[in-house]
Amino acid sequence: MSRDIKKNKFKVKRKKRKSMMITIVGIGYVGLPLACLCGEKGYKTFGISKDRKKINQINNGISPIKGDIYLEKMISRKFFTATSSYDSISKSDIIIICVPTPVDERYNPDLTPVKQSCRNIAKHLKKGQLIIIESTVNPGVCEEVVKPLLEEATGLQAGKDFYLAHCPERINPGDPHWNVRNIPRCVGALSRQGLLKSLKFYRHILEGEVRPMKSIKEAEATKIIENSFRDINIAFVNELAKSFEVLGIDLMDVIEGASTKPFAFMAHYPSCGVGGHCIPVDPYYLIERAKLAGFDHRFLKLAREINNSMPSYTVDLLIKSLNDLKKSIRGTKVGLLGMAYKANVADMRESPAVDIMKILKKQGAMVEVFDPYLPDQSTVKNLEELLKKSEALIIATDHNEFKQLSLSLLKKNGIKVVIDGKNCLNNKLIKKSKIIYKGVGR
Ligand SMILES: NC(=O)c1ccc[n+]([C@@H]2O[C@H](COP(=O)([O-])OP(=O)(O)OC[C@H]3O[C@@H](n4cnc5c(N)ncnc54)[C@H](O)[C@@H]3O)[C@@H](O)[C@H]2O)c1
Repeated sequence: MSRDIKKNKFKVKRKKRKSMMITIVGIGYVGLPLACLCGEKGYKTFGISKDRKKINQINNGISPIKGDIYLEKMISRKFFTATSSYDSISKSDIIIICVPTPVDERYNPDLTPVKQSCRNIAKHLKKGQLIIIESTVNPGVCEEVVKPLLEEATGLQAGKDFYLAHCPERINPGDPHWNVRNIPRCVGALSRQGLLKSLKFYRHILEGEVRPMKSIKEAEATKIIENSFRDINIAFVNELAKSFEVLGIDLMDVIEGASTKPFAFMAHYPSCGVGGHCIPVDPYYLIERAKLAGFDHRFLKLAREINNSMPSYTVDLLIKSLNDLKKSIRGTKVGLLGMAYKANVADMRESPAVDIMKILKKQGAMVEVFDPYLPDQSTVKNLEELLKKSEALIIATDHNEFKQLSLSLLKKNGIKVVIDGKNCLNNKLIKKSKIIYKGVGR
């Protein structure tokens, strides 16, 4: 790789920056912080959304995503304009796609939002523009799906008339340290010119390293392996949780022990399941694309299968505990703590809590739910009311509020069984009482 690509600390002149325009298509967890950052760095920035309510909130300085203080602060400074119109595209120097890349109910990748955005962008595309995909996609999507869509609709040639690049986003919503500004990034492009333009842009707005990749496909693959790595490691500890339960070993203690090794061990923790828009979704993009090319990703498929089994395993822990008390799950009043997929956020995409709830209801349990971040999903007003109405609890999200649940509060409310799907309570203390406590792997 040449020196200019590797080393150059690019600067964009203030005057030029002011006249440069950026449009971001899709302003959710990824697009919103990016739009704020571009605006803050002096680019005239537009963010496209179909949601009128969201547009009004953002333009009034209110974040549509609650609980992320960093984002709330940035949005309050009104760094960009939210709009439903694609008109800004024709005047933009850079157009960044940040739309969802979900899977359907059969776990098949659904590229509809990416394709729709490309068709809408194509109507306004001009020579010289740079299109960057930040959505997570499998290796091949930029060249096999995005490029032909844009070329066929415009008659322009990618890499020559306009530039196409991929810079996968790594944002971790709610993370107090790593944010849109300081997370290192990788970028790949179809052409050398496209790569230089992308590096110049990202090195200007970001504080973290921006690593050029040899190809757009390598950039796509980077993100998929990052999240597949997580999924596989979590599946390993989830499988250990099941095995150690039979063997009578506390997996959490074992992980603590193994973590004293200062090299070549990385702690991952078992739980009631894997949620969010990334880890339980992205591996399918690689699995399916490799299958098309004739390769069977057995390891990735097994990891997905194990992680998908954790909600029902968690409910099984409850059923067994109730059986020990000679109680059936049918008719038992179960309190479900948390609907979000991770602690202290209001995001319930692919949340294992959703599956736990479905299984509990199917088994005939009488379920009440409380999530302080998702009042619309809660069936009770607060934790106190949930405890009063429950005989057994399943903790599906380790929100701070739940981690502070005390033994005296559990006793006071007559709780008989606690299934700690996040291993976030003081198990040793609860186990000393008459309450049956089971964690995942402990
Ligand atoms: N959420 C994360 O933590 C995270 C982290 C890294 C990467 N990613 C990836 O980034 C991408 C976006 O994820 P997100 O979490 O921001 O999703 P999101 O659902 O929060 O936001 C996506 C936005 O795109 C809009 N949108 C949907 N379809 C559209 C269309 N056809 N045209 C225009 N806008 C459309 C939605 O209304 C929404 O505002 C995904 O590929 C995801 O895998 C997400």
